[in-house]
Amino acid sequence: MSQMKHIDNIPSTPGKFKMEKSPYNRLRVHFSFAKLTFWSFVFLGLIFVFFYRSPSSSSPVSSDLSRRSLRTSSYGGPAWEKRIKASAKVRSRNGISVLVTGAAGFVGTHVSVALKRRGDGVLGLDNFNDYYDPSLKRARQALLERTGVYIVEGDINDATLLKKLFDIVPFTHVMHLAAQAGVRYAMENPGSYVHSNIAGLVNVLEICKSVNPQPAIVWASSSSVYGLNTKVPFSERDRTDQPASLYAATKKAGEEIAHTYNHIYGLSLTGLRFFTVYGPWGRPDMAYFFFTRDILKGKSIPIFEAANHGTVARDFTYVDDIVKGCLAALDTAEKSTGSGGKKKGPAQLRVFNLGNTSPVPVSDLVSILERLLKVKAKRLVMKLPRNGDVQFTHANISSAQRELGYKPSTDLQTGLKKFVRWYLNYYGNGKKSAQ
Ligand SMILES: NC(=O)c1ccc[n+]([C@@H]2O[C@H](COP(=O)([O-])OP(=O)(O)OC[C@H]3O[C@@H](n4cnc5c(N)ncnc54)[C@H](O)[C@@H]3O)[C@@H](O)[C@H]2O)c1
Repeated sequence: MSQMKHIDNIPSTPGKFKMEKSPYNRLRVHFSFAKLTFWSFVFLGLIFVFFYRSPSSSSPVSSDLSRRSLRTSSYGGPAWEKRIKASAKVRSRNGISVLVTGAAGFVGTHVSVALKRRGDGVLGLDNFNDYYDPSLKRARQALLERTGVYIVEGDINDATLLKKLFDIVPFTHVMHLAAQAGVRYAMENPGSYVHSNIAGLVNVLEICKSVNPQPAIVWASSSSVYGLNTKVPFSERDRTDQPASLYAATKKAGEEIAHTYNHIYGLSLTGLRFFTVYGPWGRPDMAYFFFTRDILKGKSIPIFEAANHGTVARDFTYVDDIVKGCLAALDTAEKSTGSGGKKKGPAQLRVFNLGNTSPVPVSDLVSILERLLKVKAKRLVMKLPRNGDVQFTHANISSAQRELGYKPSTDLQTGLKKFVRWYLNYYGNGKKSAQ
């Protein structure tokens, strides 16, 4: 990478470098000769570096290749393409080939494993950003590698890379999970939400609309689009125009953008509104995860309460149930109808709630964790800040039940037991601690 940057910094016509003026002609001739020799060596050196780092090389450096942007001309290569094809190879009859964006993420890892296990072709894409501890993403990547899923390291905004991936594999489906998650971080880094959740989504849809055949797309929206709604349970027909965070606003924008691409280009699009997903390999920025860490460390944990001592509750949904919903959405997705960037007929456009339909007060979540960890939590009751969180979430899932056969089956006690077992195992019974 650094060598490639170096290439960019050197002018293509070295002769344009001006020698400092000198009164001594002899010296000038000598310098010209020295200059020629110098640039010849630089040139030969660069050729050597170029071939040494070429993807077909068996050098360990080649494993780094997916990190480079396709904007540099030598991206890819036969070994890289072979890895992509092997990962995306469909092994079951009627299997599908799926590009999973955000594959090194919490939900992306679980979905990728489930697809691969049933014989579908799966290729991951992730930029491994450091919103939370990237070593956890690397550990998930290692898990996926053992399952036969390769993750290309790149950004969903890299159109050249995405096109190249579709050139190599004509994916039938895209499971788009890459996003900037988390509601509070939006006050710190609003640009990251626009970059991934808006610009990135548009880029993914631009590529999907232009390839032939167009894939069907299933993507992650969020329960946060219900914002300040007070009518429960939340139904897909309810209003979603009162977001309480920039994160929610970008997910809502995503749903409108999806409508546009469906309407103009005939892309088949299914948005899934996940409700507080938890489980093994989860996200360290989520309450159940950092409560576990802080209870084990003996640190106090904030328990929010709404105005007038109102209870804050979440419709916690176990990750395996979410995975079932994602796979059912992929399996029931109809084909996109466009080709060559043009719509040929109406295409499917859907939105589903994927929740558990049994909200649990956050204080009950803490009690379950106390029992599982056998440690008393130091609770610090605080007023719910107005920085993105809502008082409660509760999903009406009748639409997903009817059309996807979605039926969540894991209660919070059972799911947290699995999470805690994983946590203690992963972080070495609390000896190594989550960041
Ligand atoms: N976990 C939940 O409770 C929950 C709830 C509602 C919605 N969602 C949505 O579900 C999806 C998955 O969430 P998660 O919990 O697995 O989050 P996650 O942060 O663990 O996974 C997202 C992954 O996307 C990657 N990514 C982000 N921006 C990218 C970009 N520009 N290019 C390439 N990769 C990029 C990240 O590196 C990360 O690995 C997200 O769209 C999220 O908004 C999650």
